[in-house]
Amino acid sequence: MAGISAASGLTGNWLAATPNGDSSMQRTYFNLKQQGNRITGTVRWTLHFFSITESSGGPENFTITAAMPLSWGQRRVTYRGKLEGDELHLVKVSGFGPDSKLIAHRVLEGEGALPARIEPPPLHPARDNGLARTPPMGWNSWNKFANRIDDATVHGIADAMASNGMRDAGYVYVNIDDTWEGERDAQGNIHPNSKFPDMKALADYVHAKGLKLGIYSSPGPDTCEGYEGSYGHEEQDARTYAAWGIDYLKYDWCGAFTIYKDSEMQAVYQKMGDALLATGRPIVFSLCQYGVGNVWKWGADPGGNLWRTGGDISDSWDSISRIGFSQIQLAPYARPGHWNDPDMLEIGNGHMTDTEYRTHMSLWSMLAAPLIAGNDVRNMSPSILEILTNREVIAIDQDKAGHPARRVWQSGQQEVWSRELADGDTAVAVFNRAPADAKVTFRWADAGIRETPSHIRDLWRHAEQRGNGPEYSAEVPGHGVVLFRVR
Ligand code: GLA
Repeated sequence: MAGISAASGLTGNWLAATPNGDSSMQRTYFNLKQQGNRITGTVRWTLHFFSITESSGGPENFTITAAMPLSWGQRRVTYRGKLEGDELHLVKVSGFGPDSKLIAHRVLEGEGALPARIEPPPLHPARDNGLARTPPMGWNSWNKFANRIDDATVHGIADAMASNGMRDAGYVYVNIDDTWEGERDAQGNIHPNSKFPDMKALADYVHAKGLKLGIYSSPGPDTCEGYEGSYGHEEQDARTYAAWGIDYLKYDWCGAFTIYKDSEMQAVYQKMGDALLATGRPIVFSLCQYGVGNVWKWGADPGGNLWRTGGDISDSWDSISRIGFSQIQLAPYARPGHWNDPDMLEIGNGHMTDTEYRTHMSLWSMLAAPLIAGNDVRNMSPSILEILTNREVIAIDQDKAGHPARRVWQSGQQEVWSRELADGDTAVAVFNRAPADAKVTFRWADAGIRETPSHIRDLWRHAEQRGNGPEYSAEVPGHGVVLFRVR
């Protein structure tokens, strides 16, 4: 019979629970079997399920190393520990996750075991929820606030967006990322943790401001931050989100890798896509699985309105230029309702110059990428607000034809991109990836513009430029861009 083992020594199931500070817990389970000087078993820390591969010592002083195979390598963790009365005192010596001193207590055998695998559904033909006819625009908490996001901050962000011009420029989604999740009740219903006392009231507040509310989950048992995921509760969670008034779900693979193979992603995403559709509430479905398995080829089929094309962005020139300039070959997969997502904006987070942030905004707009601001919009400089709300640039991003740009010319670190717009105009971006200013001369014909243009509008200067024949020379600052709308 399952029960707390009375065995002496280390053998047994141990739980170390440490509070996250928001009524939720980080849990590490040590399921140990001691035979003489050998310790075997497993360690589960949220989404990580390790098997013990090496051990030494005994109850008074032991060391265990546990490993977890991943498609991209192996993760390992090492703990040192000792038994003190009824408690197991542990220190993480090395490995993945927070450095910590843990105190574990005996719990029932079976608690903390990886949940049984639920077969993903068979694939069915694509279904379209009809949303996101242009790339979604809004804000997300992660880049600036990470796990420090709470109800009061979201209220403040919504207030700011409704009054500072962002909402009117098109930024309507206010998206809460990871760490809002609390525990499930006896019926399995998910509740927010203490940082979000009333999700429905928050949604009502955001809606009253003319904005929409987004939320985050994972198809796995845990999210990336080790909070409760939707595994085995997909339909129930979708109904909960709909009842709260949620308008957007970012669904992050993370903890799903403990259960599913990469090749099962489409079916797993389809399960939530169907669950969202079944609620009858329009909910934008955002796939976040870092571009694995060429998601751009199938992301629309499970109902994805957008899909992340790579790993996490950071607030640096290296990150935004590496992501932005490498996405152009994915352009053909973007179309109304279904967009490549090179990740959320870092504009205004403080580690780049305004010139670099203008390049960030221009790249994303030429790519027809979602524009999800990631800074503290309650508190930003006028120049950052101006970059985010440049309506002439947003008009390129939001062009209803939804054809992303092509790279039409390149020489060293300078390149020209061209994007055909619905009204027959062409957006032309002249990028200078080099640190020093450069004069870039290109031929309009290279940008697909056959006749010398009659109108050349500089979208960052908001001024008409004079053409000078079949060639054009632009002075482009280092790491900068000149962005035109040409007729
Ligand atoms: C992953 C995602 C990020 C963010 C975090 C939250 O890293 O790619 O965008 O959602 O998880 O834990």
